[in-house]
Amino acid sequence: MSERHFPSSFLWGASTAAHQVEGNNVNSDWWELEHTGEEAIAEPSGDAADSFHRYPQDIALLGELGLGAYRFSFEWARIEPEQGYFSRAMLQHYRRMVDTTIQAGLVPVVTLHHFTNPRWFAKQGGWSAAGAVDAFARYVETVAPLLHDVPWVVTINEPNMVAALLGIREAVSSGITAAPSVCATEALIAAHRRAREILQPLAGATGWSVANQAYHAVPGCEEEMVAYRHPREDVFLEAAREDDFVGVQAYLRTFVGKEGPVPVREDVEKTLTGWEYFPQALGIAARHTAAVTGGTPILVTENGIATADDRRRIDYTHEALVGLHEAIADGVDVRGYLHWSALDNYEWGSYRPTFGLIEWDSRTFERSIKPSGRWLGRVAQSGVLGHPDAPVGEGGEFSR
Ligand code: BGC
Repeated sequence: MSERHFPSSFLWGASTAAHQVEGNNVNSDWWELEHTGEEAIAEPSGDAADSFHRYPQDIALLGELGLGAYRFSFEWARIEPEQGYFSRAMLQHYRRMVDTTIQAGLVPVVTLHHFTNPRWFAKQGGWSAAGAVDAFARYVETVAPLLHDVPWVVTINEPNMVAALLGIREAVSSGITAAPSVCATEALIAAHRRAREILQPLAGATGWSVANQAYHAVPGCEEEMVAYRHPREDVFLEAAREDDFVGVQAYLRTFVGKEGPVPVREDVEKTLTGWEYFPQALGIAARHTAAVTGGTPILVTENGIATADDRRRIDYTHEALVGLHEAIADGVDVRGYLHWSALDNYEWGSYRPTFGLIEWDSRTFERSIKPSGRWLGRVAQSGVLGHPDAPVGEGGEFSR
């Protein structure tokens, strides 16, 4: 099939997260981590893309490309820099972002928690501490009035990664094998449920976004794979069964053998994050998510590739969308696709892995749209995925 038609209501867009693009997120635990030297971090986030000030331009560029949605996050560390102290100016700032998105003709998709915490929350023990759920609920209650016309709200981004990272830290300090923190997993699920209850009176759909790994079993290790996957992914998908939607975030696959995950083979193509080039991950993740949730509507909230070769970004995204289209044709309920990322951004320790549809000059912050951005914009505008090599106008999508 050379042309694939997506549903006319399909939402096309791109995503970012506050800490990765805004810059100077000084009250967050990540900023602290970047400057204490306790963990091996190649470079600090600094000014990032200065999107805190330049968001109107970023949103305008996405509109100019022809995309229909922008996913961004509210930064809890800015909104509540000290426990119980809520900044009115920051609440107004994030409301302006929602307004700017809507005025540009884009649908806002707002994430309330994307990895970073206020420093005070982290000092109290973060998601493993007693009181974590109440603290998060208070923040959600405070931002809820800003969300009255936001159609999609992601409560927590990749709770499974949050629990996994906390599990690794617990394992290092107690010498046990790393598994997701059970205590954090329970708190995250409880926090998500409380947030959904708080947001229930609003018109928009609420859910959370899960990191999908497209787990594969080494032959003969199916049981081990399923046991490995459950606390790392499926438990978070099961928690989304009653939700309005679930965010699928897929980039790669992971093989699991008798001893756990198997390192990526030397002879495969790798991206700048060291992951295997595996665009089929998206279709697999959508199908697996639908199977575990029993059909909660899916919004692809992230998918993309870290590469310096923008042509390869188009190839990857094209292949990923082919797999997604096949899943839709087989009955999986997918409502939209948001690419990661709108902008090159701070990849949690380094600026080297570039995921963006838009790049920027690190001295002047001047933005330039990459060919992949124009390409995705054309797919979004037409709703048709042709062959990426064919000339534009003949079912093709690529032109520089
Ligand atoms: C996260 C993003 C991250 C991306 C690529 C997801 O895990 O939500 O913050 O930049 O993947 O690594």
